[in-house]
Amino acid sequence: MMKKLAIGAALALALTPAATFAAGGGEQHIEDFAFSFEGPFGTYDQHQLQRGLQIYTEVCAACHGLKLVPIRTLSDEGGPHMPEDQIRAYAAEYFEVFDPELDDFRPATPVDHFPENNAAGAPDLSMMAKARAGFHGPYGLGINQMFKGMGGAEYIASLLTGYTGEEKEEAGSILYENTAFPGGWISMAPPLSDELVEFADGHSNTVHHMSQDVSAFLMWAAEPKMMARKQAGFVGVLFLTMLSVLLYLTNKRIWAPIKGKKTA
Ligand code: HEC
Repeated sequence: MMKKLAIGAALALALTPAATFAAGGGEQHIEDFAFSFEGPFGTYDQHQLQRGLQIYTEVCAACHGLKLVPIRTLSDEGGPHMPEDQIRAYAAEYFEVFDPELDDFRPATPVDHFPENNAAGAPDLSMMAKARAGFHGPYGLGINQMFKGMGGAEYIASLLTGYTGEEKEEAGSILYENTAFPGGWISMAPPLSDELVEFADGHSNTVHHMSQDVSAFLMWAAEPKMMARKQAGFVGVLFLTMLSVLLYLTNKRIWAPIKGKKTA
């Protein structure tokens, strides 16, 4: 009886989400990109973040804002780690912010945040890499996430590379077919094309590579302290391991006289 119940429960668990997933339609295709920051010891690739920043600035910032991210954090270690004078020049050159004191726009400085922008109905990207998940399965149970992570960066990279080239018009606006976007049709035109951005060091600028660069940058924007978090976690695990060993030995010692008597 118990066995039957257990099998029944397991089946129900396995089947229900599968059914709802299928009913939702629009199979999402998320590619499992290998990012440098994956795994317990992964770190951000400083040069990749800098390329991602350039792509964001030259392409995505035309529509998307990044209003929760202070520009000065571009100098953070573990992040893009850019020199401060370079950041000052960058902020002034590329961004304008509205200053209530001047009642006018002025060039941005490192203490400002990236400007907000939702001109074309585009969502703010500050937290996007944490707000989306690339991995759900199997069957929507979320077990994959334990091994692969949430996959926010994978989702964004898959979105940017997932255009099929098909378009349709719906209620006056053009939708583009995309294999990563839930539902399969997105109103964002393909923002990247090969060689759209030129990197100073001549790094590859195919859509495939640029998608990963800008996704890594957005992952950093959403979780700038990931390295510190992993480090703290590692120290914590180490500490708890040591504590467990000490407790085990202490426990053995405390009970030694009594346990010793029994076996004797
Ligand atoms: C021409 C304007 C425009 C540009 C340029 C643009 N986007 Fe978008 N983006 C949009 C719009 C509009 C949406 C909302 C799409 C929708 O919900 O159908 C969007 C949505 C998104 C989303 C959210 C998708 C979701 O799951 O809701 C991400 C991520 C994104 N864009 C990333 C980028 C990146 C990265 C770049 C630069 C490489 C970029 N976008 C460039 C207009 C733009």
